[in-house]
Amino acid sequence: VPVAYQRRLRCRPLGPARTLALFPSIDPVLPTPGRLLLQEAGFRQRNRRGVPPLGGSGLAMNSDAVHVVGSKVWVLTAEDTWLKAQVTQLHDDGQEVTVKLEGGSEKRLPAAKCPLQNHGRPVEDMTKLPYLNEPGVLNNLMDRYQLDDIYTYTGTILIAINPFQNLAHMYGPQMMMEYKGVDLGELSPHVYAIADNAFRKMVKENKSQSILVSGESGAGKTETSKLIMNYLAWMGGRATAAEDEKGVEQKVLESNPLLEAFGNAKTVRNDNSSRFGKFVEIQFDKDWRISGAAIRTYLLERSRLVNISDPERNYHIFYQLCEGASDALKEELFLKPASEFSYLNQSSCYQLDGVDNAKEFKRTRHAMKVVGIATEEQRSVFKVVAAVLHLGNLSFTDGDEPDSSKIDGDAAEFHLSACANLLGVDLEGLRKALTTRTRQTFDGPIVSPLPVAAATDNRDSLTKTIYSRMFDWLVERVNTAVGQDPHAAAVVGVLDIYGFEQFRQNDFEQFCINLANEKLQQHFNHHVFKQEQIEYEKEEIDWSYIEFVDNQDVLDLIEKKPGGIIDGLDEQCRFPTSTAADFALKLYQGDFIKGSKRFSKPKLSQTAFTIDHYAGNVTYETDNFLEKNKDYVIAEHQELLTTAGCDYIRTLFPVEAEPAGGKGGK
Ligand SMILES: Nc1ncnc2c1ncn2[C@@H]1O[C@H](COP(=O)(O)OP(=O)(O)OP(=O)(O)O)[C@@H](O)[C@H]1O
Ligand SMILES: [Mg+2]
Repeated sequence: VPVAYQRRLRCRPLGPARTLALFPSIDPVLPTPGRLLLQEAGFRQRNRRGVPPLGGSGLAMNSDAVHVVGSKVWVLTAEDTWLKAQVTQLHDDGQEVTVKLEGGSEKRLPAAKCPLQNHGRPVEDMTKLPYLNEPGVLNNLMDRYQLDDIYTYTGTILIAINPFQNLAHMYGPQMMMEYKGVDLGELSPHVYAIADNAFRKMVKENKSQSILVSGESGAGKTETSKLIMNYLAWMGGRATAAEDEKGVEQKVLESNPLLEAFGNAKTVRNDNSSRFGKFVEIQFDKDWRISGAAIRTYLLERSRLVNISDPERNYHIFYQLCEGASDALKEELFLKPASEFSYLNQSSCYQLDGVDNAKEFKRTRHAMKVVGIATEEQRSVFKVVAAVLHLGNLSFTDGDEPDSSKIDGDAAEFHLSACANLLGVDLEGLRKALTTRTRQTFDGPIVSPLPVAAATDNRDSLTKTIYSRMFDWLVERVNTAVGQDPHAAAVVGVLDIYGFEQFRQNDFEQFCINLANEKLQQHFNHHVFKQEQIEYEKEEIDWSYIEFVDNQDVLDLIEKKPGGIIDGLDEQCRFPTSTAADFALKLYQGDFIKGSKRFSKPKLSQTAFTIDHYAGNVTYETDNFLEKNKDYVIAEHQELLTTAGCDYIRTLFPVEAEPAGGKGGK
């Protein structure tokens, strides 16, 4: 769904609006129908109540669309923009048409390429559009958006357009009350209606529900997820008598600012972009009160810690700490202004519009307190955050031996000692872990020096390892604080996860994100088509099938064992000397992979591959695939941190943690 909306309508500019879709109440697993339901024209009017039911997918197609002279149509330009036009002539029995575009120019085109325009007022549910085609959908959304109607249904799917302004009148307890217990479609489309529907379905069917929030970066997924969680907390809390149970809801809600401080950052698309995926499961007891919650996070973007480009920022917490820490804390953490830390000053952006870093720091501390992270533990967390900043300022220069390195000068020595102090590790031990590598051989360990570039990479690995372990610890703490209800009657899950990604350069992260989206797409297809089919059969309505493009073959290409891409990657990771070219060659030559229509090799590359995804072709560069797939903690780092003097660091790196070399392939 979101992909279709990436095209723009030129007739009236829509500004920076971004769109997302919510897929409510998705059942766990459904059989593969392998085909798309084609709704018969006019079917919707045959519904008993005389109005379109909101149980459908909204994927109707109008088979009675006939062009006549004078028909108002849409024409797609070379720039992927829909323009309004009118049919002036018919050719070949209406197979082709001549159209006059709004600007005055004429064109001859196949009629099938000129979808008919809808007339009349915008509709709240797009299944009511007489002509349900891409420009019709976009135009309807735009017309509504211009009236501040940011929500529109497509059957049971809610499409939201980011208002980029505070529409306070739309939200809050009064609005919640309005939507409570009201059938979907009875009131204007609203995110509360989706949340209420999920809640009531859970109660009625005694069955867990999920709400999937999907869309491109900046579309409003996280804000929408929070609105859903607010509604569920309000619903689940209303019947709550005991004070302490209210605490559960509060903790769930407070987990948002906490995780956002550590896992969100400014990107070019969104000042508060989530750099991790999140699945929140809100658990309800048999009286349908919130009794616990579980938060799972996915794929925190680690590369951002060591590499940012103007005008983006690193994770919010760094700026919050540098500005918001008290003088005493700043002293304890050897802090300097953000602009003096290399991990932050690669970009000249330190402030966000309308955001006070120091105030946000207070907000973060409050959230930490609510989820039970006491002042002492907060200090430990901030020590780690500061240690990471100091690590970034550890520069290296050529050492005395060939191909060796050493800490570069007094300033870097200061940061080395600050870092060792904050992590509670031995200064010389840290120096050695950063500038040397130890190999275990039959004759005992051999310590070899690392040249400057390798030492720098090694330092960045340590940063990523420490920060991501701390992030996981925070998530775990939230989970512990909120508490799980092993006897929960049912749960409502809210998934806030990145949409399909396609950049000029695509790395392992895009590969993982796009795999997740392929899975969701398949799940969604199956759910929607199956659901529609059941409804039609129930109402004994004429319907027919057409084949639809099932993406199972893409999933096989990536996941099949043996023979798929991930299987090949895992296998290559088992050989320490494997290179990206070896991995790529394995893909190009693998019988199963090269036989897949969804796979191709770009002509001019020996290391890239292209997948024909459900949402388009994406070419992936394999240069970092092996290293990122291994994702292990370097042995020297593990040893250093396991034996740290600081209790908190030892908690992050327990002795039993996976040894160097890892299993890989996770
Ligand atoms: N319903 C809304 N009302 C008002 N403002 C909104 C709403 N939804 C989103 N916004 C605005 O848009 C910004 C971006 O939204 P959000 O962070 O939810 O996007 P996202 O889809 O989660 O993006 P990412 O994938 O980058 O995390 C918000 O910070 C907020 O300013
Ligand atoms: Mg987000």
